[in-house]
Amino acid sequence: MRVTVLGAGIIGLTVADELIRRGHTVTVVDPHPASGASYAAAGMLSPAAEVWHGEEEILRLGTASLALWPALAGRLGVELRADPTLLVGYDAGDLQQVERQVSLVGGLGGGATLLDRVAVRACEPVLARVAGAALLAGEMSVDPRAVCGALLSRIPVVSRDPGGADVTVVATGARLPKPWTGLVRGVRGEILRVRADDPPTHTVRGWVGGEPIYLVPRGNGEVVVGATSEEHSVPPVVTAGGVHRLLTAARALWPGLDRAELIESTARDRPTTADGRPLIGASGVDGVLLAAGHFRHGVLLAPLTARLVADHLDGAPVDPSVDPRRFTTGCTLQGKERHDHHAQR
Ligand code: GLY
Repeated sequence: MRVTVLGAGIIGLTVADELIRRGHTVTVVDPHPASGASYAAAGMLSPAAEVWHGEEEILRLGTASLALWPALAGRLGVELRADPTLLVGYDAGDLQQVERQVSLVGGLGGGATLLDRVAVRACEPVLARVAGAALLAGEMSVDPRAVCGALLSRIPVVSRDPGGADVTVVATGARLPKPWTGLVRGVRGEILRVRADDPPTHTVRGWVGGEPIYLVPRGNGEVVVGATSEEHSVPPVVTAGGVHRLLTAARALWPGLDRAELIESTARDRPTTADGRPLIGASGVDGVLLAAGHFRHGVLLAPLTARLVADHLDGAPVDPSVDPRRFTTGCTLQGKERHDHHAQR
């Protein structure tokens, strides 16, 4: 088939890559490739550390997608860091949060080992004295910019849709065209990058006085410190308050942050749906699929999304938990809006 993919973030690019591998003729359209949420993302491949109560489907999808990452990273020649995630509680209240997370993940079949404060220091000596932690085996991290760079070196991207496709895949993250615009909203994430001589060796995810924080180390001394999470209706910018909260929480866990060089602050919108699950598959308009709305999980879910979209084009049914038609059935996409979409194309 001739397929146009709208959006050259990590989702659009992995979808395009998979479709090309399966023999489709693919055009990727984006005036600013890899500059949205993928540019900000830390690249935690952490289905257990990033799942909350009520998000059990994300753990299932994330675990399935995590299993696809080693092959994708290997094919792209991108480093995959396979250190387990350390889920840290700074004080006694934060440790309760860790323990709740462990029982949630344990109850869902995931594996976690609780560590007392002495074991935490033995595991990650650069951390401060914390109340305790859990080690989540099997989680990984990847540099999303390296992934997008490797995909962009293989897949040309044009700035305008040339038209004439049999199928269009909309992968424009938090900015969906009509009639799907209202299905996603932006949840701002502010994120920092620092360079340090004594970075942590694990992905550290945790709470400091109730404030969620993560540290994701790269191989070159860079550490990604993230991320705020705010509902807003203005373009995402880095705020002084956001940076202050991130640095305060991160420094409490990792005192060596004081000596690190601050090299970047970035803000982007996470594309978020009403139920926190992505939109993958038939859009409700003939010839248009969606691959969007991945919220906190775009990097993790990229290879699974690519597989689901490609399988769907090969005739497989859409996974009901991510089927966009859970939002688009009924009157929303009927009549005038369908007509509008085809007129726009
Ligand atoms: N998955 C990390 C974040 O959304 O901040």
